[in-house]
Amino acid sequence: METLIINGGKALQGSVEINGAKNAAVAILPAAILASEGKCVIDNIPDIEDVHCLERILSSLGCNVHKVNNNTLEIDATDITTVDACNEDVRRMRASYYFIGALLTRFKKAKVELPGGCPIGARPIDQHIKGFEALGAKVTIEHGAVNVEAENLHAANIFFDVVSVGATINVMIAATMAEGTTILENVAKEPHVVDVANFLNSMGADVKGAGTDVIRVKGVKKLVGCNYSVIPDQIEAGTFMIAAAATKGDITIKNVIPKHLESISAKLMEMGAIVEEGDDSIRVTVDQPLKGVSVKTAPYPGFPTDVQQPMSTLLSITNGRSLIAESIWENRHKHTDELKKMGAVIKVEGRTAIIDGVQNLKGAKVVATDLRAGAAMVIAGLVAHGETEIRDIGHIDRGYPHIEDKFRALGADIRRELR
Ligand code: UD1
Repeated sequence: METLIINGGKALQGSVEINGAKNAAVAILPAAILASEGKCVIDNIPDIEDVHCLERILSSLGCNVHKVNNNTLEIDATDITTVDACNEDVRRMRASYYFIGALLTRFKKAKVELPGGCPIGARPIDQHIKGFEALGAKVTIEHGAVNVEAENLHAANIFFDVVSVGATINVMIAATMAEGTTILENVAKEPHVVDVANFLNSMGADVKGAGTDVIRVKGVKKLVGCNYSVIPDQIEAGTFMIAAAATKGDITIKNVIPKHLESISAKLMEMGAIVEEGDDSIRVTVDQPLKGVSVKTAPYPGFPTDVQQPMSTLLSITNGRSLIAESIWENRHKHTDELKKMGAVIKVEGRTAIIDGVQNLKGAKVVATDLRAGAAMVIAGLVAHGETEIRDIGHIDRGYPHIEDKFRALGADIRRELR
Protein backbone atom coordinates (compact mmCIF):
# COMPACT_ATOMS: atom_id res chain seq x y z
CA MET A 1 0.00 0.00 0.00
CA GLU A 2 1.28 3.49 -0.85
CA THR A 3 1.94 5.63 2.20
CA LEU A 4 3.37 9.04 2.94
CA ILE A 5 6.28 8.98 5.37
CA ILE A 6 7.09 12.26 7.07
CA ASN A 7 9.83 13.17 9.52
CA GLY A 8 8.50 16.36 10.99
CA GLY A 9 9.84 19.29 12.90
CA LYS A 10 11.24 21.48 10.12
CA ALA A 11 10.11 25.06 9.62
CA LEU A 12 9.00 25.21 5.98
CA GLN A 13 10.60 27.96 3.92
CA GLY A 14 10.33 29.16 0.34
CA SER A 15 7.62 29.51 -2.24
CA VAL A 16 5.02 27.22 -3.71
CA GLU A 17 2.88 27.54 -6.86
CA ILE A 18 -0.80 26.80 -6.43
CA ASN A 19 -2.52 24.79 -9.16
CA GLY A 20 -5.97 25.21 -10.67
CA ALA A 21 -9.02 24.77 -8.47
CA LYS A 22 -10.19 21.19 -8.10
CA ASN A 23 -13.77 22.13 -7.39
CA ALA A 24 -13.92 24.35 -10.48
CA ALA A 25 -12.18 21.83 -12.74
CA VAL A 26 -14.46 18.96 -11.71
CA ALA A 27 -17.47 20.99 -12.89
CA ILE A 28 -15.85 22.55 -15.95
CA LEU A 29 -14.80 19.21 -17.46
CA PRO A 30 -18.34 17.76 -17.42
CA ALA A 31 -19.69 21.12 -18.65
CA ALA A 32 -17.35 20.90 -21.66
CA ILE A 33 -19.76 18.38 -23.17
CA LEU A 34 -22.19 21.24 -23.77
CA ALA A 35 -20.14 22.26 -26.82
CA SER A 36 -21.81 20.71 -29.84
CA GLU A 37 -19.26 22.37 -32.11
CA GLY A 38 -15.52 22.91 -31.67
CA LYS A 39 -13.09 21.91 -28.96
CA CYS A 40 -12.72 23.22 -25.42
CA VAL A 41 -9.07 23.81 -24.59
CA ILE A 42 -8.88 24.05 -20.82
CA ASP A 43 -5.73 25.17 -19.08
CA ASN A 44 -4.57 25.26 -15.43
CA ILE A 45 -6.29 21.96 -14.69
CA PRO A 46 -4.84 20.33 -11.56
CA ASP A 47 -3.06 17.02 -12.12
CA ILE A 48 -5.13 15.04 -9.60
CA GLU A 49 -6.95 11.71 -9.49
CA ASP A 50 -10.44 13.28 -9.65
CA VAL A 51 -9.47 14.94 -12.94
CA HIS A 52 -8.02 11.68 -14.32
CA CYS A 53 -11.27 9.98 -13.38
CA LEU A 54 -13.29 12.64 -15.24
CA GLU A 55 -11.08 12.26 -18.31
CA ARG A 56 -11.98 8.55 -18.36
CA ILE A 57 -15.69 9.29 -17.91
CA LEU A 58 -15.61 11.83 -20.77
CA SER A 59 -13.90 9.26 -23.02
CA SER A 60 -16.47 6.62 -22.04
CA LEU A 61 -19.22 8.97 -23.27
CA GLY A 62 -17.52 9.28 -26.66
CA CYS A 63 -15.67 12.57 -26.16
CA ASN A 64 -12.28 12.94 -27.73
CA VAL A 65 -10.00 13.88 -24.84
CA HIS A 66 -6.46 14.93 -25.64
CA LYS A 67 -3.97 15.70 -22.92
CA VAL A 68 -1.85 18.57 -24.25
CA ASN A 69 0.25 18.50 -21.07
CA ASN A 70 -0.29 17.70 -17.37
CA ASN A 71 -2.38 20.85 -16.90
CA THR A 72 -4.06 21.34 -20.28
CA LEU A 73 -6.83 19.25 -21.80
CA GLU A 74 -8.52 19.45 -25.17
CA ILE A 75 -12.06 18.09 -25.12
CA ASP A 76 -14.05 17.54 -28.29
CA ALA A 77 -17.61 16.58 -27.39
CA THR A 78 -19.04 16.90 -30.89
CA ASP A 79 -19.66 13.19 -31.37
CA ILE A 80 -20.80 11.98 -27.98
CA THR A 81 -22.12 8.46 -28.43
CA THR A 82 -24.07 7.82 -25.24
CA VAL A 83 -25.89 9.62 -22.44
CA ASP A 84 -25.43 6.66 -20.12
CA ALA A 85 -22.80 7.41 -17.47
CA CYS A 86 -22.80 4.29 -15.35
CA ASN A 87 -19.44 2.81 -14.46
CA GLU A 88 -16.91 2.46 -11.68
CA ASP A 89 -15.39 5.90 -12.33
CA VAL A 90 -18.78 7.64 -12.20
CA ARG A 91 -19.56 5.94 -8.88
CA ARG A 92 -16.15 6.87 -7.51
CA MET A 93 -16.52 10.63 -7.51
CA ARG A 94 -19.02 13.09 -6.19
CA ALA A 95 -18.68 15.53 -9.06
CA SER A 96 -20.11 12.96 -11.51
CA TYR A 97 -23.44 14.56 -10.72
CA TYR A 98 -22.48 17.44 -13.02
CA PHE A 99 -22.94 15.04 -15.95
CA ILE A 100 -26.66 14.98 -15.12
CA GLY A 101 -27.07 18.72 -15.71
CA ALA A 102 -24.72 18.77 -18.70
CA LEU A 103 -26.21 15.77 -20.55
CA LEU A 104 -29.74 16.95 -19.74
CA THR A 105 -29.32 20.37 -21.31
CA ARG A 106 -27.48 19.11 -24.39
CA PHE A 107 -29.40 15.85 -25.09
CA LYS A 108 -32.55 16.23 -22.92
CA LYS A 109 -31.74 12.85 -21.46
CA ALA A 110 -29.21 11.21 -19.15
CA LYS A 111 -28.61 8.24 -16.93
CA VAL A 112 -25.90 8.82 -14.32
CA GLU A 113 -25.03 6.60 -11.40
CA LEU A 114 -25.29 8.22 -8.00
CA PRO A 115 -22.10 9.86 -6.91
CA GLY A 116 -19.59 8.75 -4.28
CA GLY A 117 -16.87 11.04 -2.87
CA CYS A 118 -15.69 11.78 0.65
CA PRO A 119 -17.65 10.20 3.53
CA ILE A 120 -18.26 13.49 5.35
CA GLY A 121 -22.05 13.49 5.61
CA ALA A 122 -25.30 12.35 3.99
CA ARG A 123 -24.72 14.37 0.80
CA PRO A 124 -28.26 14.42 -0.64
CA ILE A 125 -28.94 15.77 -4.15
CA ASP A 126 -32.56 16.78 -3.60
CA GLN A 127 -31.82 20.43 -4.51
CA HIS A 128 -30.26 19.39 -7.83
CA ILE A 129 -33.38 17.32 -8.57
CA LYS A 130 -35.69 20.13 -7.53
CA GLY A 131 -33.93 22.38 -10.05
CA PHE A 132 -34.03 19.88 -12.92
CA GLU A 133 -37.73 19.25 -12.31
CA ALA A 134 -38.47 22.98 -12.25
CA LEU A 135 -36.79 23.23 -15.67
CA GLY A 136 -39.21 20.60 -16.98
CA ALA A 137 -37.27 17.35 -16.56
CA LYS A 138 -38.75 14.12 -15.27
CA VAL A 139 -36.36 12.63 -12.72
CA THR A 140 -36.42 9.06 -11.43
CA ILE A 141 -33.90 7.12 -9.39
CA GLU A 142 -33.64 3.40 -10.11
CA HIS A 143 -31.00 0.86 -9.14
CA GLY A 144 -28.67 3.57 -7.92
CA ALA A 145 -28.83 5.67 -11.10
CA VAL A 146 -30.48 9.03 -11.72
CA ASN A 147 -32.55 9.10 -14.92
CA VAL A 148 -33.51 12.49 -16.30
CA GLU A 149 -35.57 13.18 -19.38
CA ALA A 150 -37.30 16.22 -20.83
CA GLU A 151 -39.13 17.03 -24.03
CA ASN A 152 -38.15 20.63 -23.66
CA LEU A 153 -36.35 22.51 -20.94
CA HIS A 154 -37.92 25.81 -20.01
CA ALA A 155 -36.90 28.64 -17.70
CA ALA A 156 -37.97 28.63 -14.06
CA ASN A 157 -37.61 30.63 -10.85
CA ILE A 158 -35.85 28.38 -8.36
CA PHE A 159 -35.22 29.24 -4.72
CA PHE A 160 -32.84 26.69 -3.21
CA ASP A 161 -33.73 25.48 0.30
CA VAL A 162 -30.05 25.23 1.26
CA VAL A 163 -27.00 27.00 -0.11
CA SER A 164 -25.41 24.26 -2.20
CA VAL A 165 -22.35 24.57 -4.41
CA GLY A 166 -23.24 21.43 -6.35
CA ALA A 167 -26.91 22.27 -6.89
CA THR A 168 -26.11 25.87 -7.90
CA ILE A 169 -23.57 24.78 -10.51
CA ASN A 170 -25.59 21.81 -11.77
CA VAL A 171 -28.83 23.71 -12.27
CA MET A 172 -26.92 26.68 -13.76
CA ILE A 173 -25.42 24.24 -16.31
CA ALA A 174 -28.83 22.65 -17.00
CA ALA A 175 -30.43 26.07 -17.58
CA THR A 176 -27.88 27.25 -20.18
CA MET A 177 -29.99 25.97 -23.08
CA ALA A 178 -33.44 26.07 -21.47
CA GLU A 179 -35.93 28.37 -23.16
CA GLY A 180 -36.25 31.75 -21.41
CA THR A 181 -34.49 33.27 -18.41
CA THR A 182 -34.02 31.08 -15.36
CA ILE A 183 -33.58 32.80 -12.00
CA LEU A 184 -31.70 30.94 -9.29
CA GLU A 185 -31.95 32.32 -5.75
CA ASN A 186 -30.19 31.50 -2.48
CA VAL A 187 -27.28 30.22 -4.54
CA ALA A 188 -23.71 29.43 -3.50
CA LYS A 189 -21.19 32.25 -4.11
CA GLU A 190 -17.96 30.23 -4.01
CA PRO A 191 -15.18 31.28 -6.41
CA HIS A 192 -15.62 28.02 -8.30
CA VAL A 193 -19.30 28.85 -8.96
CA VAL A 194 -18.14 32.09 -10.59
CA ASP A 195 -15.44 30.24 -12.53
CA VAL A 196 -17.91 27.74 -13.97
CA ALA A 197 -20.23 30.61 -14.95
CA ASN A 198 -17.31 32.32 -16.71
CA PHE A 199 -16.49 29.09 -18.53
CA LEU A 200 -20.12 28.68 -19.66
CA ASN A 201 -20.13 32.29 -20.89
CA SER A 202 -16.91 31.63 -22.82
CA MET A 203 -18.82 28.84 -24.59
CA GLY A 204 -21.56 31.31 -25.55
CA ALA A 205 -23.91 31.00 -22.56
CA ASP A 206 -25.62 34.02 -20.99
CA VAL A 207 -25.11 33.69 -17.23
CA LYS A 208 -25.21 36.79 -15.03
CA GLY A 209 -24.85 37.35 -11.29
CA ALA A 210 -22.60 34.43 -10.33
CA GLY A 211 -20.89 35.41 -7.07
CA THR A 212 -24.06 37.11 -5.78
CA ASP A 213 -27.20 35.60 -4.22
CA VAL A 214 -29.09 35.56 -7.52
CA ILE A 215 -27.98 34.05 -10.81
CA ARG A 216 -29.84 34.72 -14.06
CA VAL A 217 -29.37 32.28 -16.93
CA LYS A 218 -30.81 33.26 -20.29
CA GLY A 219 -31.11 30.13 -22.40
CA VAL A 220 -29.21 30.10 -25.70
CA LYS A 221 -29.63 27.80 -28.69
CA LYS A 222 -26.21 26.21 -28.65
CA LEU A 223 -22.81 26.32 -27.00
CA VAL A 224 -19.46 25.96 -28.71
CA GLY A 225 -15.85 25.18 -27.85
CA CYS A 226 -13.61 27.80 -26.22
CA ASN A 227 -10.23 28.37 -24.58
CA TYR A 228 -10.35 28.69 -20.81
CA SER A 229 -8.01 28.79 -17.83
CA VAL A 230 -9.22 27.52 -14.42
CA ILE A 231 -8.84 29.80 -11.36
CA PRO A 232 -6.27 28.98 -8.65
CA ASP A 233 -7.33 26.58 -5.92
CA GLN A 234 -8.52 28.42 -2.81
CA ILE A 235 -8.36 25.23 -0.72
CA GLU A 236 -4.88 24.15 -1.79
CA ALA A 237 -3.67 27.69 -1.05
CA GLY A 238 -5.36 27.67 2.37
CA THR A 239 -3.71 24.34 3.16
CA PHE A 240 -0.23 25.76 2.47
CA MET A 241 -1.03 28.92 4.48
CA ILE A 242 -1.88 26.73 7.45
CA ALA A 243 1.19 24.55 6.93
CA ALA A 244 3.35 27.71 7.06
CA ALA A 245 1.81 28.77 10.38
CA ALA A 246 1.86 25.24 11.86
CA THR A 247 5.55 24.67 11.11
CA LYS A 248 6.43 28.25 12.18
CA GLY A 249 7.83 28.69 8.72
CA ASP A 250 7.86 31.37 6.05
CA ILE A 251 6.06 30.45 2.85
CA THR A 252 5.10 32.60 -0.11
CA ILE A 253 2.12 31.04 -1.82
CA LYS A 254 2.07 32.04 -5.47
CA ASN A 255 -0.61 32.03 -8.18
CA VAL A 256 -3.49 32.78 -5.82
CA ILE A 257 -6.37 35.26 -5.73
CA PRO A 258 -5.88 36.81 -2.24
CA LYS A 259 -9.53 37.94 -2.13
CA HIS A 260 -10.60 34.27 -2.14
CA LEU A 261 -8.43 33.64 0.93
CA GLU A 262 -9.66 36.50 3.12
CA SER A 263 -11.50 34.36 5.69
CA ILE A 264 -8.39 32.20 6.15
CA SER A 265 -6.00 35.17 6.27
CA ALA A 266 -8.24 36.89 8.84
CA LYS A 267 -8.32 33.81 11.10
CA LEU A 268 -4.54 33.33 10.90
CA MET A 269 -3.98 37.01 11.75
CA GLU A 270 -6.42 36.74 14.67
CA MET A 271 -4.20 33.90 15.93
CA GLY A 272 -1.12 36.12 15.66
CA ALA A 273 0.39 34.98 12.36
CA ILE A 274 1.72 37.50 9.84
CA VAL A 275 -0.08 37.41 6.50
CA GLU A 276 1.13 39.67 3.69
CA GLU A 277 -0.93 39.94 0.53
CA GLY A 278 0.67 40.55 -2.85
CA ASP A 279 -1.18 40.95 -6.17
CA ASP A 280 -1.32 37.23 -6.79
CA SER A 281 0.57 35.83 -3.81
CA ILE A 282 0.31 35.53 -0.05
CA ARG A 283 3.18 35.21 2.42
CA VAL A 284 2.57 33.60 5.79
CA THR A 285 5.11 33.79 8.62
CA VAL A 286 5.04 33.47 12.39
CA ASP A 287 7.12 35.46 14.90
CA GLN A 288 5.23 34.78 18.14
CA PRO A 289 3.29 31.95 19.81
CA LEU A 290 -0.14 31.67 18.21
CA LYS A 291 -3.32 31.82 20.27
CA GLY A 292 -6.46 29.69 20.13
CA VAL A 293 -9.54 30.92 18.24
CA SER A 294 -13.09 29.93 17.35
CA VAL A 295 -13.76 28.88 13.78
CA LYS A 296 -17.20 28.42 12.28
CA THR A 297 -17.43 27.08 8.76
CA ALA A 298 -19.86 28.81 6.42
CA PRO A 299 -20.58 29.15 2.69
CA TYR A 300 -18.33 31.68 0.89
CA PRO A 301 -17.23 34.27 1.90
CA GLY A 302 -17.21 32.46 5.26
CA PHE A 303 -14.47 30.12 6.46
CA PRO A 304 -14.41 27.16 4.01
CA THR A 305 -15.40 23.79 5.42
CA ASP A 306 -12.68 22.25 3.22
CA VAL A 307 -9.99 24.13 5.17
CA GLN A 308 -11.48 23.28 8.56
CA GLN A 309 -9.64 19.96 8.89
CA PRO A 310 -6.14 21.33 8.13
CA MET A 311 -6.99 24.17 10.55
CA SER A 312 -7.73 21.64 13.31
CA THR A 313 -4.13 20.45 13.10
CA LEU A 314 -2.82 23.99 13.56
CA LEU A 315 -5.19 24.61 16.48
CA SER A 316 -3.98 21.36 18.10
CA ILE A 317 -0.58 22.98 18.66
CA THR A 318 -1.82 26.50 19.42
CA ASN A 319 -1.87 27.99 22.94
CA GLY A 320 -5.16 27.69 24.78
CA ARG A 321 -8.57 26.38 23.79
CA SER A 322 -10.02 26.57 20.27
CA LEU A 323 -13.40 25.63 18.88
CA ILE A 324 -14.30 24.47 15.39
CA ALA A 325 -18.02 24.52 14.64
CA GLU A 326 -18.78 22.67 11.40
CA SER A 327 -21.99 24.04 9.94
CA ILE A 328 -21.96 22.44 6.48
CA TRP A 329 -21.27 18.72 7.01
CA GLU A 330 -22.51 16.55 9.86
CA ASN A 331 -19.55 14.19 9.95
CA ARG A 332 -16.38 16.15 9.38
CA HIS A 333 -14.42 15.61 12.59
CA LYS A 334 -13.53 11.94 12.07
CA HIS A 335 -9.89 12.81 11.48
CA THR A 336 -9.62 14.14 15.05
CA ASP A 337 -9.28 10.51 16.23
CA GLU A 338 -6.16 10.31 14.04
CA LEU A 339 -4.83 13.60 15.43
CA LYS A 340 -5.39 12.23 18.94
CA LYS A 341 -3.09 9.29 18.10
CA MET A 342 -0.41 11.95 17.62
CA GLY A 343 -1.05 13.54 21.02
CA ALA A 344 -3.68 16.16 20.17
CA VAL A 345 -6.29 16.89 22.84
CA ILE A 346 -9.64 17.14 21.08
CA LYS A 347 -13.19 16.47 22.20
CA VAL A 348 -15.99 16.35 19.66
CA GLU A 349 -19.46 17.34 20.79
CA GLY A 350 -22.00 17.10 17.99
CA ARG A 351 -20.63 19.18 15.14
CA THR A 352 -18.16 21.09 17.33
CA ALA A 353 -14.56 20.11 18.03
CA ILE A 354 -13.10 21.49 21.24
CA ILE A 355 -9.33 21.60 20.95
CA ASP A 356 -6.90 22.21 23.83
CA GLY A 357 -3.55 23.15 22.35
CA VAL A 358 -0.50 21.00 23.22
CA GLN A 359 3.21 21.85 22.91
CA ASN A 360 3.77 19.48 20.00
CA LEU A 361 2.54 16.36 18.24
CA LYS A 362 4.34 13.01 18.09
CA GLY A 363 4.80 10.95 14.93
CA ALA A 364 2.39 7.99 14.61
CA LYS A 365 0.76 5.64 12.11
CA VAL A 366 -2.40 7.35 10.97
CA VAL A 367 -5.00 7.14 8.23
CA ALA A 368 -6.32 9.76 5.80
CA THR A 369 -10.05 9.32 6.45
CA ASP A 370 -11.03 11.64 3.58
CA LEU A 371 -9.45 14.18 1.22
CA ARG A 372 -9.08 17.23 3.47
CA ALA A 373 -8.52 15.01 6.50
CA GLY A 374 -5.52 13.72 4.56
CA ALA A 375 -4.15 17.26 4.26
CA ALA A 376 -4.70 17.70 8.00
CA MET A 377 -2.63 14.57 8.66
CA VAL A 378 0.15 15.73 6.32
CA ILE A 379 0.43 19.02 8.24
CA ALA A 380 0.37 17.05 11.50
CA GLY A 381 3.24 14.91 10.21
CA LEU A 382 5.17 18.02 9.17
CA VAL A 383 5.05 19.49 12.68
CA ALA A 384 5.33 16.28 14.73
CA HIS A 385 8.51 14.96 16.37
CA GLY A 386 9.51 11.64 14.83
CA GLU A 387 8.10 9.64 11.94
CA THR A 388 4.50 9.79 10.77
CA GLU A 389 3.12 7.19 8.39
CA ILE A 390 -0.09 8.13 6.58
CA ARG A 391 -2.15 5.40 4.97
CA ASP A 392 -5.10 5.55 2.54
CA ILE A 393 -3.41 8.42 0.72
CA GLY A 394 -5.58 7.77 -2.34
CA HIS A 395 -7.93 10.30 -0.74
CA ILE A 396 -5.17 12.93 -0.80
CA ASP A 397 -4.25 12.19 -4.42
CA ARG A 398 -7.87 12.83 -5.42
CA GLY A 399 -7.46 16.53 -4.72
CA TYR A 400 -3.88 17.68 -4.02
CA PRO A 401 -1.48 17.65 -6.99
CA HIS A 402 1.99 16.26 -6.15
CA ILE A 403 1.62 17.14 -2.49
CA GLU A 404 4.86 15.52 -1.36
CA ASP A 405 6.92 17.21 -4.10
CA LYS A 406 5.52 20.61 -3.15
CA PHE A 407 6.23 20.15 0.55
CA ARG A 408 9.69 18.67 -0.15
CA ALA A 409 10.56 21.78 -2.16
CA LEU A 410 9.73 23.80 0.97
CA GLY A 411 12.23 21.79 3.01
CA ALA A 412 10.01 19.01 4.37
CA ASP A 413 11.28 15.47 4.86
CA ILE A 414 8.39 13.67 3.15
CA ARG A 415 8.35 10.74 0.77
CA ARG A 416 5.95 8.28 -0.80
CA GLU A 417 6.72 4.68 0.05
CA LEU A 418 5.14 1.27 -0.50
CA ARG A 419 4.65 -0.35 2.89
C1 UD1 B 1 -18.86 21.10 -2.63
C2 UD1 B 1 -17.39 20.78 -2.65
C3 UD1 B 1 -16.94 20.31 -1.28
C4 UD1 B 1 -17.32 21.33 -0.21
C5 UD1 B 1 -18.79 21.72 -0.32
C6 UD1 B 1 -19.17 22.87 0.60
C7 UD1 B 1 -17.13 20.08 -4.93
C8 UD1 B 1 -16.85 18.98 -5.88
N1 UD1 B 1 -17.16 19.76 -3.65
O1 UD1 B 1 -19.54 19.90 -2.31
O2 UD1 B 1 -15.52 20.14 -1.31
O3 UD1 B 1 -17.09 20.77 1.06
O4 UD1 B 1 -19.11 22.12 -1.65
O5 UD1 B 1 -18.40 24.00 0.29
O6 UD1 B 1 -17.26 21.22 -5.31
N2 UD1 B 1 -27.30 19.72 0.41
C9 UD1 B 1 -28.62 19.33 0.47
N3 UD1 B 1 -29.24 19.00 -0.72
C10 UD1 B 1 -28.61 19.04 -1.92
C11 UD1 B 1 -27.26 19.46 -1.95
C12 UD1 B 1 -26.63 19.80 -0.76
O7 UD1 B 1 -29.22 19.27 1.53
O8 UD1 B 1 -29.22 18.73 -2.93
C13 UD1 B 1 -26.61 20.10 1.67
C14 UD1 B 1 -25.44 19.17 1.99
O9 UD1 B 1 -25.86 18.02 2.71
C15 UD1 B 1 -24.55 20.08 2.81
C16 UD1 B 1 -24.80 21.47 2.20
O10 UD1 B 1 -26.02 21.37 1.48
O11 UD1 B 1 -24.97 20.09 4.14
C17 UD1 B 1 -23.72 21.97 1.27
O12 UD1 B 1 -23.49 20.99 0.27
P1 UD1 B 1 -22.94 21.39 -1.18
O13 UD1 B 1 -22.54 22.82 -1.18
O14 UD1 B 1 -23.92 20.93 -2.19
O15 UD1 B 1 -21.65 20.49 -1.29
P2 UD1 B 1 -21.08 19.77 -2.57
O16 UD1 B 1 -21.43 20.55 -3.79
O17 UD1 B 1 -21.41 18.33 -2.54
